Amino acid sequence: MRRVLTGITTTGTPHLGNYVGAIRPAIAASRRDGVESFFFLADYHALIKASDPERIARSTLEIAASWLALGLDPKRVHFYRQSDIPEIPELTWLLTCVTAKGLLNRAHAYKAAVDQNLAAGEDADAGITAGLYQYPVLMAADILLFRAHEVPVGRDQVQHIEIARDIAQRFNHLYGAEHFVLPEASVAEHVAVLPGLDGRKMSKSYDNTIPLWLDPKALRKAVLGIVTNSQGPGEPKDPDDSHLFQIYRAFGSPEETRAMREAYAAGIAWGEAKERLAALIDRELAAPRERYRALVANPREIELTLEEGAARVRDVARPFIRELRRAVGLRALGQVEAPQTAATATPAKKADGRRAAFKTFRERDGRFHFRLVDANGESLAVSVGFASPAEARAAQHALLATPAEQRRRDAIIGAPCEGGVRVELMLAADRPVAFSDALPDADAAHACFERIEGALAEIAAAAA
Ligand code: TRP
Repeated sequence: MRRVLTGITTTGTPHLGNYVGAIRPAIAASRRDGVESFFFLADYHALIKASDPERIARSTLEIAASWLALGLDPKRVHFYRQSDIPEIPELTWLLTCVTAKGLLNRAHAYKAAVDQNLAAGEDADAGITAGLYQYPVLMAADILLFRAHEVPVGRDQVQHIEIARDIAQRFNHLYGAEHFVLPEASVAEHVAVLPGLDGRKMSKSYDNTIPLWLDPKALRKAVLGIVTNSQGPGEPKDPDDSHLFQIYRAFGSPEETRAMREAYAAGIAWGEAKERLAALIDRELAAPRERYRALVANPREIELTLEEGAARVRDVARPFIRELRRAVGLRALGQVEAPQTAATATPAKKADGRRAAFKTFRERDGRFHFRLVDANGESLAVSVGFASPAEARAAQHALLATPAEQRRRDAIIGAPCEGGVRVELMLAADRPVAFSDALPDADAAHACFERIEGALAEIAAAAA
């Protein structure tokens, strides 16, 4: 499954430009088969841009309600709030420690702020927070934590995805495994950039937006305020030179758009064209607007949806962070992997003489299996069936001969099975060789995997 992930910064109130350029296409894409979608409210990012607590909270509610009202299905996609996932800031720090400072010096948003300061004759870093500077690392953590393949973004964000790839590569290189998937930016080429009231791109920074959830009267009034040229009624008009027409096209069906083209040629009055546009937008937004009102009036329901979404993705994030902590050396002291010197490499023989072992046995079906048991004789995993004891032994040797890092990479830890999840040990990435029993959750699967690794290390040491 291709994992597609997008963050929405929770500053401001959504407007028609956000809707046409981002929300509508993203929700449509989330309904495609074969993708696992992650949508989250980037409220940690919002803190970098704004410092009014009420506005941040209000915007989080409005944006969550907007996406839900417009048809985002939280059963089908992962919909959560960034600040509900403590693994994100934790990963941010792990990534910060491998990120070249120079890489962040070159980030567009930071450079633009520096240039502005210099142009104003100020100190280069005047008024710039470390948060703005770190912005790309936080964003990399958002993406890398969920091993997203694809990140749909606007053109202004492409550099951030490149930075995320750089950081991922560096981490993978330093810590000797393919921990992170390298994400790709996808910039929708065909999606309309909606002009605003003054004809420039609709954007909060130009103060030319039409908010998404105006009531029909206010919407009509806003549309009447769209700037047009001074051609009078009856004069033929050029649709390709009209922002009004561009907005119309973003909401009309192909037939309606064609009909409007003809109306332009026939000299439709600007006032009439605006009335038709207002009606068209209202047609598309009337039903979602009702849902939006109901949702905003009942924030508790949205809260529960977001909390559920967070719980679901944290089931994936938690074991992954554990893997990463282990990779960088943040380990429980009992798990310290001491460097193998002649002194420490002695077999870990238990006081009573017992140690971990493979036990081969024959099933009723005549095939040979082996069991991996720990020093207490407790079964950790059972193998697939082999035609002969020699083949079973060969598989044991192959398992022991595989470097621990690769075993870890190839293993499926937390694979769904009857009665829960399990650990699946693989040979050469694609050949399952042994399975644990069913375990209650991903945490238990990880613990079990560690015990398996411990047992394999014990057997290897004894054989050496
Ligand atoms: N920086 C993005 C924006 O301003 C929002 C965002 C935060 C994001 N984290 C992300 C987008 C991760 C994609 C992936 O639009």
